[in-house]
Amino acid sequence: MPIFFQQQINDSTRLGIWKIEETEEFFKANVPQHRDVTHPHKRLQHLAGRFLLQYLFPDFPYELIQIADTRKPFLPDEQYHFSISHCGDFAAAIVSRDSRVGIDIEIPTEKISRIMYKFLSAKEHELFHLIQPDKDRIPFSTLLWSAKESIFKWYGNGGVDFRKEIQLKKQHEGTEMIDSFFSKNNTELAVNYRQFDHLVLAWVMS
Ligand SMILES: CC(C)(COP(=O)(O)OP(=O)(O)OC[C@H]1O[C@@H](n2cnc3c(N)ncnc32)[C@H](O)[C@@H]1OP(=O)(O)O)[C@@H](O)C(=O)NCCC(=O)NCCS
Repeated sequence: MPIFFQQQINDSTRLGIWKIEETEEFFKANVPQHRDVTHPHKRLQHLAGRFLLQYLFPDFPYELIQIADTRKPFLPDEQYHFSISHCGDFAAAIVSRDSRVGIDIEIPTEKISRIMYKFLSAKEHELFHLIQPDKDRIPFSTLLWSAKESIFKWYGNGGVDFRKEIQLKKQHEGTEMIDSFFSKNNTELAVNYRQFDHLVLAWVMS
Protein backbone atom coordinates (compact mmCIF):
# COMPACT_ATOMS: atom_id res chain seq x y z
CA MET A 1 0.00 0.00 0.00
CA PRO A 2 2.28 2.80 -1.17
CA ILE A 3 0.90 5.80 0.62
CA PHE A 4 4.06 7.90 0.75
CA PHE A 5 2.85 10.68 3.04
CA GLN A 6 -0.40 11.45 4.79
CA GLN A 7 -1.56 14.32 6.98
CA GLN A 8 -4.77 15.02 8.85
CA ILE A 9 -4.67 18.80 8.67
CA ASN A 10 -7.75 19.32 10.86
CA ASP A 11 -11.11 17.62 11.53
CA SER A 12 -12.33 18.23 8.00
CA THR A 13 -9.21 18.32 5.81
CA ARG A 14 -6.82 15.54 4.78
CA LEU A 15 -3.86 15.36 2.46
CA GLY A 16 -2.01 12.43 0.89
CA ILE A 17 0.82 11.62 -1.49
CA TRP A 18 0.77 8.29 -3.32
CA LYS A 19 3.86 6.65 -4.79
CA ILE A 20 2.60 5.03 -7.96
CA GLU A 21 3.73 1.40 -8.14
CA GLU A 22 0.49 -0.17 -9.34
CA THR A 23 -0.70 -0.94 -12.86
CA GLU A 24 -3.43 0.94 -14.64
CA GLU A 25 -5.75 -2.03 -14.06
CA PHE A 26 -5.45 -1.62 -10.30
CA PHE A 27 -6.63 1.97 -10.43
CA LYS A 28 -9.29 1.33 -13.08
CA ALA A 29 -10.85 -1.31 -10.82
CA ASN A 30 -11.35 1.40 -8.21
CA VAL A 31 -11.66 4.72 -10.02
CA PRO A 32 -13.62 6.04 -12.99
CA GLN A 33 -11.52 7.88 -15.58
CA HIS A 34 -12.79 11.42 -15.95
CA ARG A 35 -11.17 12.61 -19.10
CA ASP A 36 -9.32 11.12 -22.06
CA VAL A 37 -5.61 10.94 -21.39
CA THR A 38 -3.62 9.52 -24.29
CA HIS A 39 -0.18 9.20 -22.73
CA PRO A 40 -0.08 6.00 -20.59
CA HIS A 41 1.99 7.46 -17.73
CA LYS A 42 -0.13 10.62 -17.58
CA ARG A 43 -3.22 8.39 -17.51
CA LEU A 44 -1.74 6.48 -14.58
CA GLN A 45 -1.03 9.79 -12.78
CA HIS A 46 -4.58 10.99 -13.45
CA LEU A 47 -6.08 7.75 -12.09
CA ALA A 48 -3.80 7.75 -9.02
CA GLY A 49 -4.86 11.32 -8.20
CA ARG A 50 -8.52 10.35 -8.36
CA PHE A 51 -7.83 7.20 -6.33
CA LEU A 52 -6.48 9.32 -3.48
CA LEU A 53 -9.76 11.23 -3.14
CA GLN A 54 -11.62 8.15 -1.86
CA TYR A 55 -8.54 6.91 -0.04
CA LEU A 56 -8.71 10.09 2.05
CA PHE A 57 -12.51 10.26 2.34
CA PRO A 58 -14.16 6.89 1.54
CA ASP A 59 -17.55 8.52 0.81
CA PHE A 60 -16.07 10.89 -1.79
CA PRO A 61 -18.61 10.85 -4.68
CA TYR A 62 -16.53 10.26 -7.83
CA GLU A 63 -19.64 10.17 -9.99
CA LEU A 64 -20.46 13.80 -9.20
CA ILE A 65 -17.10 15.29 -10.31
CA GLN A 66 -17.37 17.89 -13.05
CA ILE A 67 -14.60 19.65 -14.97
CA ALA A 68 -14.68 23.44 -15.31
CA ASP A 69 -13.63 25.31 -18.47
CA THR A 70 -10.37 26.07 -16.67
CA ARG A 71 -9.91 22.25 -16.35
CA LYS A 72 -10.30 22.38 -12.59
CA PRO A 73 -12.29 19.36 -11.34
CA PHE A 74 -14.96 20.16 -8.75
CA LEU A 75 -18.13 18.92 -7.04
CA PRO A 76 -21.11 21.17 -7.87
CA ASP A 77 -22.68 20.87 -4.41
CA GLU A 78 -19.28 21.44 -2.71
CA GLN A 79 -19.73 18.42 -0.47
CA TYR A 80 -15.95 18.38 -0.68
CA HIS A 81 -13.39 20.85 -1.95
CA PHE A 82 -10.34 19.16 -3.43
CA SER A 83 -7.19 19.64 -5.42
CA ILE A 84 -4.90 17.20 -7.22
CA SER A 85 -1.32 17.27 -8.46
CA HIS A 86 1.02 14.73 -10.03
CA CYS A 87 4.67 14.57 -10.93
CA GLY A 88 6.82 11.62 -12.00
CA ASP A 89 5.71 8.57 -10.03
CA PHE A 90 3.81 10.59 -7.44
CA ALA A 91 0.24 11.82 -7.14
CA ALA A 92 -1.04 14.10 -4.38
CA ALA A 93 -4.47 15.23 -3.28
CA ILE A 94 -5.95 17.45 -0.60
CA VAL A 95 -9.62 17.12 0.31
CA SER A 96 -11.67 19.31 2.66
CA ARG A 97 -15.28 19.33 3.79
CA ASP A 98 -15.33 23.08 4.37
CA SER A 99 -12.31 24.97 2.99
CA ARG A 100 -11.04 25.85 -0.45
CA VAL A 101 -7.77 24.04 -1.09
CA GLY A 102 -4.90 23.91 -3.55
CA ILE A 103 -1.99 21.49 -3.80
CA ASP A 104 1.13 21.08 -5.87
CA ILE A 105 3.98 18.59 -5.95
CA GLU A 106 7.14 19.03 -7.98
CA ILE A 107 10.38 17.18 -8.57
CA PRO A 108 13.14 19.81 -8.37
CA THR A 109 14.74 20.48 -11.76
CA GLU A 110 17.26 22.88 -13.21
CA LYS A 111 14.57 24.01 -15.68
CA ILE A 112 12.47 25.64 -12.94
CA SER A 113 15.47 27.52 -11.54
CA ARG A 114 16.26 28.79 -15.06
CA ILE A 115 12.80 30.40 -15.47
CA MET A 116 12.69 32.01 -12.02
CA TYR A 117 12.67 35.49 -13.54
CA LYS A 118 9.33 34.60 -15.18
CA PHE A 119 7.46 33.78 -11.99
CA LEU A 120 9.28 35.74 -9.27
CA SER A 121 9.35 39.52 -8.94
CA ALA A 122 12.54 41.50 -8.29
CA LYS A 123 11.35 41.99 -4.71
CA GLU A 124 10.93 38.22 -4.21
CA HIS A 125 14.43 37.62 -5.63
CA GLU A 126 15.77 40.06 -3.08
CA LEU A 127 13.70 38.73 -0.17
CA PHE A 128 14.67 35.13 -0.79
CA HIS A 129 18.33 35.89 -1.67
CA LEU A 130 18.08 34.27 -5.07
CA ILE A 131 20.56 36.46 -6.89
CA GLN A 132 23.64 34.33 -6.23
CA PRO A 133 23.63 30.71 -7.32
CA ASP A 134 24.27 28.17 -4.57
CA LYS A 135 23.73 24.49 -3.93
CA ASP A 136 20.15 24.90 -2.70
CA ARG A 137 19.05 26.99 -5.65
CA ILE A 138 17.24 24.20 -7.53
CA PRO A 139 15.15 22.79 -4.63
CA PHE A 140 14.47 26.27 -3.27
CA SER A 141 13.33 27.79 -6.58
CA THR A 142 11.17 24.69 -7.10
CA LEU A 143 9.60 25.28 -3.69
CA LEU A 144 8.73 28.87 -4.60
CA TRP A 145 7.25 27.76 -7.93
CA SER A 146 5.25 25.05 -6.17
CA ALA A 147 3.96 27.59 -3.62
CA LYS A 148 2.61 29.76 -6.45
CA GLU A 149 1.13 26.76 -8.27
CA SER A 150 -0.74 25.76 -5.08
CA ILE A 151 -2.30 29.25 -4.94
CA PHE A 152 -3.18 29.04 -8.65
CA LYS A 153 -4.95 25.73 -7.98
CA TRP A 154 -6.68 27.08 -4.85
CA TYR A 155 -8.03 29.99 -6.90
CA GLY A 156 -9.12 27.68 -9.72
CA ASN A 157 -10.34 30.29 -12.20
CA GLY A 158 -7.14 30.48 -14.28
CA GLY A 159 -5.65 33.64 -15.76
CA VAL A 160 -3.17 34.42 -12.97
CA ASP A 161 0.00 36.45 -13.51
CA PHE A 162 2.36 34.60 -11.16
CA ARG A 163 4.89 37.45 -10.99
CA LYS A 164 2.46 40.27 -10.33
CA GLU A 165 -0.58 38.71 -8.67
CA ILE A 166 1.02 36.22 -6.27
CA GLN A 167 3.48 37.73 -3.81
CA LEU A 168 5.51 35.46 -1.57
CA LYS A 169 6.44 37.57 1.44
CA LYS A 170 8.14 35.65 4.20
CA GLN A 171 9.34 32.13 4.78
CA HIS A 172 9.02 30.56 8.24
CA GLU A 173 11.42 27.64 8.08
CA GLY A 174 10.51 26.30 11.55
CA THR A 175 6.83 25.96 10.73
CA GLU A 176 7.35 25.27 6.99
CA MET A 177 5.12 28.11 5.90
CA ILE A 178 5.35 31.00 3.45
CA ASP A 179 3.21 34.11 4.04
CA SER A 180 1.69 35.14 0.71
CA PHE A 181 -0.66 37.68 -0.77
CA PHE A 182 -2.94 37.00 -3.73
CA SER A 183 -3.82 40.40 -5.16
CA LYS A 184 -6.45 39.09 -7.59
CA ASN A 185 -8.90 38.82 -4.71
CA ASN A 186 -6.96 40.59 -1.94
CA THR A 187 -6.36 37.50 0.16
CA GLU A 188 -3.56 36.77 2.61
CA LEU A 189 -2.68 33.10 2.36
CA ALA A 190 -0.27 30.88 4.25
CA VAL A 191 1.32 28.36 1.92
CA ASN A 192 2.37 25.24 3.80
CA TYR A 193 5.24 23.22 2.42
CA ARG A 194 7.32 20.15 3.00
CA GLN A 195 10.53 19.08 1.30
CA PHE A 196 11.28 15.38 0.81
CA ASP A 197 14.22 13.81 -1.01
CA HIS A 198 13.64 14.78 -4.65
CA LEU A 199 10.08 15.98 -4.04
CA VAL A 200 8.53 19.26 -2.95
CA LEU A 201 4.96 19.60 -1.62
CA ALA A 202 3.03 22.87 -1.22
CA TRP A 203 -0.57 23.32 -0.17
CA VAL A 204 -2.92 26.09 0.76
CA MET A 205 -6.30 26.16 2.47
CA SER A 206 -8.66 28.98 3.41
C1 LIG B 1 -3.25 23.86 -14.91
C2 LIG B 1 -1.99 23.55 -14.19
C3 LIG B 1 -2.14 23.99 -12.76
C4 LIG B 1 -1.75 22.05 -14.26
O1 LIG B 1 -0.50 21.75 -13.84
P1 LIG B 1 0.34 20.45 -14.27
O2 LIG B 1 1.72 20.85 -14.47
O3 LIG B 1 -0.34 19.62 -15.26
O4 LIG B 1 0.41 19.79 -12.94
P2 LIG B 1 -0.38 19.10 -11.81
O5 LIG B 1 -0.19 17.66 -11.98
O6 LIG B 1 0.15 19.72 -10.57
O7 LIG B 1 -1.93 19.45 -11.88
C5 LIG B 1 -2.84 18.78 -12.67
C6 LIG B 1 -4.17 18.73 -11.96
O8 LIG B 1 -4.56 20.05 -11.59
C7 LIG B 1 -5.97 20.14 -11.64
N1 LIG B 1 -6.27 21.33 -12.41
C8 LIG B 1 -6.22 21.49 -13.76
N2 LIG B 1 -6.53 22.76 -14.07
C9 LIG B 1 -6.77 23.40 -12.91
C10 LIG B 1 -7.15 24.75 -12.59
N3 LIG B 1 -7.33 25.67 -13.51
N4 LIG B 1 -7.34 25.06 -11.28
C11 LIG B 1 -7.17 24.14 -10.32
N5 LIG B 1 -6.80 22.86 -10.57
C12 LIG B 1 -6.61 22.50 -11.86
C13 LIG B 1 -6.51 18.83 -12.20
O9 LIG B 1 -6.96 18.05 -11.13
C14 LIG B 1 -5.27 18.22 -12.83
O10 LIG B 1 -5.21 16.83 -12.76
P3 LIG B 1 -6.31 15.86 -13.40
O11 LIG B 1 -6.73 16.46 -14.70
O12 LIG B 1 -5.64 14.55 -13.54
O13 LIG B 1 -7.41 15.82 -12.40
C15 LIG B 1 -0.76 24.27 -14.79
O14 LIG B 1 -0.40 23.68 -15.98
C16 LIG B 1 -0.92 25.73 -15.06
O15 LIG B 1 -1.53 26.15 -16.01
N6 LIG B 1 -0.31 26.52 -14.21
C17 LIG B 1 -0.29 27.95 -14.37
C18 LIG B 1 0.91 28.33 -15.13
C19 LIG B 1 0.95 29.81 -15.34
O16 LIG B 1 -0.06 30.48 -15.52
N7 LIG B 1 2.13 30.35 -15.30
C20 LIG B 1 2.32 31.74 -15.49
C21 LIG B 1 3.51 32.26 -14.78
S1 LIG B 1 5.03 31.73 -15.46
